[in-house]
Amino acid sequence: MHALEWLPKDLLAGKTAFITGGGSGINLGIARAYSTLGANIAICGRSQHKLDGAAALLRSENVQRCVLARAADVRAPEQLQSAFRACRDELGPIDILVCGAAGNFLVAAENLSPNGFKTVIDIDLLGSFHAARLAFEQLRATRGCLLFISASMGQVAHAYQVHVGAAKAGIDMMMRNLAVEWGPYGIRVNSIVPGAIADTEGVRRLTTPESAASLARENPLRRLGTIDDIANAAVLLASPLAAYVNGVVLPVDGGQGLLGSTVFNHGAREFLATHSVRRELRN
Ligand code: COA
Repeated sequence: MHALEWLPKDLLAGKTAFITGGGSGINLGIARAYSTLGANIAICGRSQHKLDGAAALLRSENVQRCVLARAADVRAPEQLQSAFRACRDELGPIDILVCGAAGNFLVAAENLSPNGFKTVIDIDLLGSFHAARLAFEQLRATRGCLLFISASMGQVAHAYQVHVGAAKAGIDMMMRNLAVEWGPYGIRVNSIVPGAIADTEGVRRLTTPESAASLARENPLRRLGTIDDIANAAVLLASPLAAYVNGVVLPVDGGQGLLGSTVFNHGAREFLATHSVRRELRN
């Protein structure tokens, strides 16, 4: 049984959810979950063609919902502004804003150009600020909630991710600042940190099939995450169940982030295996 089936079908009825980067992957998964629970959905991204495909899927799954798909690059505040206005005019003011648009690639720091670094900061950090800032009046009107999609790179050092680490650490600190500043308006602000999620652009860009299999093997829950795992957490944080949750970075990673040293854990397991064999031989 799908986890959402445990929840009332009208949990988010009458709500408007706007999801940046909602044309694919985790963000589209969140849009689908919100839509299933009654929300009207607006998505933006850089490619209108991709957004149209996502909107068609959303409409086919929940025919009675309104869906707005509007091309807007989060790096261009005027494009976002126009998408937010269209959302307010067609669907009503935003109750839930998910800042999910992101860019990533693996690169050694010494090979990363200033413009490469700036590009990821522009998309992830500035783009998230633009969205939050420009949606503020609508969120204030609805006493809505704001959700950032962050990453473990913002908390733990990862090789070849200097640009993303800086951007995501900035997002999580911005999230905390906004939680404090906008809490008095009734706006809750939180982050989700997805682990390695199967069938996403992130896993395609950052792992090989072998390293993804190894990540699944090493994860405390012994699997990669699914898009539904993230969407379910996004439902929780946007729902009345989380009415007093504000300023939280929620890892949804099966406990992956707890493995401070995967290499150590791996070695320790081999050590124990070897020693238990020796003990059995002795006995
Ligand atoms: N390694 C090193 N530098 C790279 C790079 C890579 N793999 N990909 C892009 N860059 C650099 C470019 O060289 C350029 O810098 P330069 O002008 O000094 O040469 C800069 O980044 C901008 O690249 P460009 O391709 O013009 O940017 P864009 O806005 O078209 O694309 C990206 C944005 C770079 C993030 C692109 O990877 C993208 O669109 N990704 C899709 C979304 C995504 O990454 N999702 C994953 C989420 S985990």
